[in-house]
Amino acid sequence: MIVGVLKETAPGEKRVAIVPAHVSLLQKIGCEVRFETGAGAAAGYADSEYEEKGAVRGDRAAIVAESNVIASVRCAASADGGAAAEVGHAGQIWVGMADPYRKHESFDTMVQGKASLFSLELVPRITRAQSMDVLSSMANLAGYQAVLTAATTLPKMFPMMMTAAGTIVPAKVFIVGVGVAGLQAIATAQRLGAVVSAYDVRSAAKEQAESLGAKFVELDLGDSAEGSGGYAKEMDETFYEKQREMMKTVLAESDVVITTAAVPGKPAPRLVTAEMVAGMQPNSVIVDLGAERGGNCELTKPGETVVAHGVTIIGPLNLVSEMAGSASQLYSKNMVTFLQNIVREGELTVDLEDEITDSTLVIHDGEIRGQFLKAAYEKE
Ligand code: NAI
Repeated sequence: MIVGVLKETAPGEKRVAIVPAHVSLLQKIGCEVRFETGAGAAAGYADSEYEEKGAVRGDRAAIVAESNVIASVRCAASADGGAAAEVGHAGQIWVGMADPYRKHESFDTMVQGKASLFSLELVPRITRAQSMDVLSSMANLAGYQAVLTAATTLPKMFPMMMTAAGTIVPAKVFIVGVGVAGLQAIATAQRLGAVVSAYDVRSAAKEQAESLGAKFVELDLGDSAEGSGGYAKEMDETFYEKQREMMKTVLAESDVVITTAAVPGKPAPRLVTAEMVAGMQPNSVIVDLGAERGGNCELTKPGETVVAHGVTIIGPLNLVSEMAGSASQLYSKNMVTFLQNIVREGELTVDLEDEITDSTLVIHDGEIRGQFLKAAYEKE
């Protein structure tokens, strides 16, 4: 069984799906690894490192043609200005973060080429699948990087400092959304010495935020927004209106606001309006991790940094790519653990009774079976 690793094509994407250190794990399950020249270069992994581990270098066309499995980071790169997935032969399997909620050119190619696609965003949150959970791995790094980005943009220091020239008061950081990214953002801002407060619609988030030293902001919103699987559910506009009203004061007192609120498969909830931004202190900073799904802040321009009412609003689209070395290391381990579940002794086993396989297989031999993707195609 040949596992191919291609150079990612989405603009600005520096990650690579398999790092050299994990090649041997694939060899142990009977796979041979082939990689496109320069596949890991942007993440800091040289071709020679792959070759030392026994992976074979080749050109893109040959790898696409020969591989049984293509391990990818962003299968739907075409949606962001990258190349559409190429299918080498019927039955080929693509594995990666596929953005399985909308139609993409890459999916059309896979359907036409009778390929299969496993979307790693859909790995269920069960204990057995924890080490395959790409969303957690990437959110962790994004939370960390969001705080560093804010700290270097804010024209104030994060920690308190008492000097002979006077005392600097610590920065106030407010984290909205205490999932994986939010928790890492709290921990990072705390380490940097800021005074941190946080809010989430899920009640379990309170204890988690407090255990990291943040003050949990209590908003009495009545209805529960707890969904299934530890996720939040989408609420109506009346709920969000009430939330925005109650968050106004906290925002006005914060130097930095980091928004990470998300509802799976839905646009990011709009939690910060232009009016709320206008009420913030000049020179404060918003880092909107919801930018990839439209933004938690009304004034966010995805992929850009804008200044409005004196507030800098950063809407990063792929923050983790800035730490491509670490991001690839975690992603690659998630990928390999996933492959270990579907490859036995060099043979692929598509067992639809297996919860992980069933949840992640969105295209099977050219047939769309993922519920979100099916809905997107049926809309046409
Ligand atoms: P996510 O990326 O879907 O959302 C981020 C956060 O935004 C969530 O905490 C969500 O409750 C919050 N949010 C949604 N709407 C909001 C609103 N209107 N206002 C404020 N916050 C809002 O979530 P993520 O990071 O994937 O984690 C969700 C939960 O799943 C967490 O409790 C996490 O600890 C848990 N988890 C469980 C795993 C497992 O059991 N294997 C693995 C990873 C996470």
